[in-house]
Amino acid sequence: MEEAQLSSAVYVNGAISDGSVAVVPVFDHGFLYGEGVYETLRTYHGSPFLLDRHLARLRNSASLIHLTIPQSDSELTAAIAETMGHAALEGEQYVRLLVTRGVGDISYDPAGCSAPTVVIIVKAHREISSKDMEDGIRIITSSFVRNHPEAINPRIKSNNLLNNALAMQEAIQAGAQEALMLNYRGELSECSQSNVFLVRQNEVLTPPLESGLLEGITRNFVFEVGAHTDFTVRETVLRDSHVHEADEMFITSTTREILPVTRVDDRPIGTGVPGPVTLTLATTFRHQAELLSGGSDR
Ligand code: PDD
Repeated sequence: MEEAQLSSAVYVNGAISDGSVAVVPVFDHGFLYGEGVYETLRTYHGSPFLLDRHLARLRNSASLIHLTIPQSDSELTAAIAETMGHAALEGEQYVRLLVTRGVGDISYDPAGCSAPTVVIIVKAHREISSKDMEDGIRIITSSFVRNHPEAINPRIKSNNLLNNALAMQEAIQAGAQEALMLNYRGELSECSQSNVFLVRQNEVLTPPLESGLLEGITRNFVFEVGAHTDFTVRETVLRDSHVHEADEMFITSTTREILPVTRVDDRPIGTGVPGPVTLTLATTFRHQAELLSGGSDR
């Protein structure tokens, strides 16, 4: 008999079920304290893109919260493939891999938790709308300061997302699509769910890790993509004032790839339409992603 098509499939410690019924216990420290780490991946041609880099970052995030992931990379890879198989979705897929401290007592002592909980969520990937790509998106500058690196280091991709969620709520209330966050020194750090880049005289600039941000897999890939173009891509400390002097602006993330930003706080960036540098990088990015995933260039 053919397996029923699920709109999402969820793996919880080895058991796979439909997303509508998947559960984790309330005593899981991921639920009680947001104590866990995660990765968001997407597929190109059905295979998770840059999976090795995501697994390496997951382990690094885990080590920064003193969490050891017992499963090997090949075990996690097999679990992802199994969950994708159950989801049996057509088209590209969204994969969220989470590892929490696991079930314990109501206590911050991790010794009481027996084993980490591993969750894999697979659902359909939603491509960036062609309208957003053609017009660029509008974002706001959030009033929330990005977490201080010595409080909760933004380099940890953790399930503790209140800082990001509150910033994004401001954007949603303003009808905008992302929230730009400054660090405690007033420098640009990143957006609530993406990294940020400015283009100035054909130079592509992004804040350094010292500005307190997640080392995005897509951000890092932009440096490699840049090497296939005539543009220099480099890190530099950026401030609010640089935003409105920029010729172009874009954000990057696994799910949004390279997405042009054409308005910040109701002021246009550059000419107010996506610029040539951003569009060249976006096309080259897609080309490289397709090639690395074994597909043909579109
Ligand atoms: N967000 N900065 C933050 C705070 C993020 O949450 C993300 C990713 C990024 C971009 O990282 P990457 O290029 O590795 O996706 C930067 C993902 C998409 C998410 O939270 O689902």
